[in-house]
Amino acid sequence: MKKLEIQLKDNSYTIIIEDGLLSHLCFYLEQVYSNKKIFILTDDIVKNLYLDKVINELKKKYEVDYVVVPNGENSKSIMTYTKVCEEFLNKGIRRNDLLLALGGGVIGDLCGFIAGTIYRGIPYVNVPTTLLSQMDSSIGGKTGIDFADRKNILGVFKQPIMVCIDPKTLDTLNDREMNNGMGELIKHGAIGNRALLMKLKDKPKIDETIIYESLSVKKKVVEKDEFDLKERMTLNFGHTFGHAIELKYGYKHGEAVAIGMLMAVRMGMDLKITDSSCYPELKQILQIYHLPIEEYDYREYLKDTVLDKKNIAGIVHFIFLTHLGECKIYPITESQIKERFYECDN
Ligand SMILES: NC(=O)c1ccc[n+]([C@@H]2O[C@H](COP(=O)([O-])OP(=O)(O)OC[C@H]3O[C@@H](n4cnc5c(N)ncnc54)[C@H](O)[C@@H]3O)[C@@H](O)[C@H]2O)c1
Ligand SMILES: [Zn+2]
Repeated sequence: MKKLEIQLKDNSYTIIIEDGLLSHLCFYLEQVYSNKKIFILTDDIVKNLYLDKVINELKKKYEVDYVVVPNGENSKSIMTYTKVCEEFLNKGIRRNDLLLALGGGVIGDLCGFIAGTIYRGIPYVNVPTTLLSQMDSSIGGKTGIDFADRKNILGVFKQPIMVCIDPKTLDTLNDREMNNGMGELIKHGAIGNRALLMKLKDKPKIDETIIYESLSVKKKVVEKDEFDLKERMTLNFGHTFGHAIELKYGYKHGEAVAIGMLMAVRMGMDLKITDSSCYPELKQILQIYHLPIEEYDYREYLKDTVLDKKNIAGIVHFIFLTHLGECKIYPITESQIKERFYECDN
């Protein structure tokens, strides 16, 4: 069993990582929740795999009800949000009941948003079941839905009262979803833990320790910068280019981040910020997990980054590696980008 304490100004909570945790969820929930009712939100795939197990366990101590949504990103919509709120309200949810997210990042984001808004906020627990949600989205308190063709555009910061991770649930995840999560896990190693990154070269089983180490990288920056104003930007390594690639070619998010990281390394090398050994090493690790390593010219995509949402008042905040396991935030103004990379256009 591994435990992480997330210390925030007003909301601190514990993340428990334990193989087989789903069979003794009550033991942990009782430490943070003393009322009677739990309402679960899950998707159809996770329902078939784990809902009965979770309900049977929770019934030992609580009254349990649930709502199921279709799996996939489309459920992070305003329509699903209103439908689920209506269902929970019809089932009699009250402001001191507990919501429990059982599923991947989609369920975590949607359930967290509902928990943050229904009755102006009720407690929720996250039980993430994909690699991406276990080592990344379950920490940090960002919740929300997609709207007007923009991802995560309606949302709130809402911290769970506990996160319960059972790495055994990864046994049922297909290879593509697993590798998708590996894209972000490799990113955590690249920006903050070289030893973790080196370990990944041996293709270890993704277990309690690896999830713990990956979350620890994110914990450090989230604790310093709860509301994503400064240090937390480092988590965007590979994302500025990655988002552009994801939209244009329809890669999964973690796959696009893999390509985006290589583009950011190339740009960092050209600016003499990134050590040149980073490129082949990172590429080798991405390849091990069948992540795409196609080369795209970062210069072509620089123009898009000027329109990126991270572009605060004409400044683009790039995240560059210095060495593997270390990174820095590097603000570049629009005009510097034009001068440095588009001299021929003028
Ligand atoms: N809040 C944050 O900080 C944050 C960070 C990163 C990503 N996200 C969000 O996370 C979402 C992506 O999360 P995801 O990759 O987990 O996607 P997801 O929730 O869609 O899960 C992927 C697929 O795996 C299935 N699944 C879930 N658990 C399973 C299991 N144990 N076995 C078999 N199948 C299982 C799901 O039904 C789904 O079809 C995106 O919407 C993204 O915006 C949020
Ligand atoms: Zn990401």
